[in-house]
Amino acid sequence: MRSIAIVNQKGGCGKTTTTVNLAGALAADGFRVLVADMDPQAHSCLALGVDADERDVNLYDVLSDESRTQSLESILVHASEGIDLAPSSIILSALEQKLATERQESRINRLADALDEVRSNYDFVLIDCPPNVGLLTFNALRAAREVIIPLEASVFAIDGVQKLLETIHLLSDRLSHPLGVRILPTLYDGRTRHARQTLGEIRERFADLCFDAVIRQNVKLREAALRGKPVAIAAPTSNGTMDYASLALEVQAQGPPALAETRLETSQEPTTSRQIEVCFRDDDASDVRIAGDFNGWVPDKGVRSLIETAGSTRVWTKVLQLPPGTYEYRFVVDGEWQEDPENPKTVTSAAGRSHSVLVVP
Ligand SMILES: Nc1ncnc2c1ncn2[C@@H]1O[C@H](COP(=O)(O)OP(=O)(O)OP(=O)(O)O)[C@@H](O)[C@H]1O
Ligand SMILES: [Mg+2]
Repeated sequence: MRSIAIVNQKGGCGKTTTTVNLAGALAADGFRVLVADMDPQAHSCLALGVDADERDVNLYDVLSDESRTQSLESILVHASEGIDLAPSSIILSALEQKLATERQESRINRLADALDEVRSNYDFVLIDCPPNVGLLTFNALRAAREVIIPLEASVFAIDGVQKLLETIHLLSDRLSHPLGVRILPTLYDGRTRHARQTLGEIRERFADLCFDAVIRQNVKLREAALRGKPVAIAAPTSNGTMDYASLALEVQAQGPPALAETRLETSQEPTTSRQIEVCFRDDDASDVRIAGDFNGWVPDKGVRSLIETAGSTRVWTKVLQLPPGTYEYRFVVDGEWQEDPENPKTVTSAAGRSHSVLVVP
């Protein structure tokens, strides 16, 4: 079971939306997912159509009692196909006080111990955290091996994220508990120059800590939450469903880098390399990737992608960081390889295929 905590002390940045809809996307891919709602606001419960007030037992009953007379399994609710929920309650906010006299080691391990019980029943547990870094978030970090930090792409405040990363580092060091951290840009509105700039800054600042996936603003995500369903079920063809499906693919494709290896400093690209943008425009395509000799012909490997809509046309911008040289590439459009229709410069490969050519001066 992979355990992923969704963490940011900033409110309203998309933690719950990410928890529920990443769960929905993973479930749609056939995985068994447990959502642990560690936020006393119980928004994950709401977004999965579960009325927290109607539950007799919830995570508080499991976490507050060291002898664990209440098993985790006994409080679980089946929320939708492939998704079970460990419900929260407002009373969870009293956990810190309830455990105040207990040893730190015992207080902080409660969720990890509880999850051990169900480890073999799920492929993923996603833990939704409250907008603060207190005992509940520490429990989530202790129970997790991976962390996703949603960052609102329009109001990105570097200091808050840096502090959060430092806290995670500290905890991870102190407990000898390795955590892989990744950043997910959310609430992205590609129509505004400000959001595009901010997304660029986030990518520049956090480099390979960032997911390639970007969650765009999409009203269907809000509506799905109000309907108590993951967007993959409530609006299967929406941008929200597509964005969380991309995120789920990335999560499946690779575990995150170990924290010790992640770069927290500003990324230092070799001074000679340049940022190059290659665009692909299409009315019908839903997935466009780029592959070339610069990334070992692995579609989108090491490439940042921006997707914008202009009228009925979608524009994929592939951002490459390349030293001077001549490169060959092709696009992969919904799984079909093709040359760049906007680039007249091509060469024929040894296999007789036409490759587009890019020259970085
Ligand atoms: N990509 C999006 N497009 C449109 N609305 C969104 C998107 N992501 C989140 N929202 C909406 O923004 C609000 C805040 O999102 P969400 O509840 O996921 O944030 P949060 O980080 O969990 O907040 P809190 O810190 O209070 O727990 C919600 O109403 C949600 O429906
Ligand atoms: Mg929330």
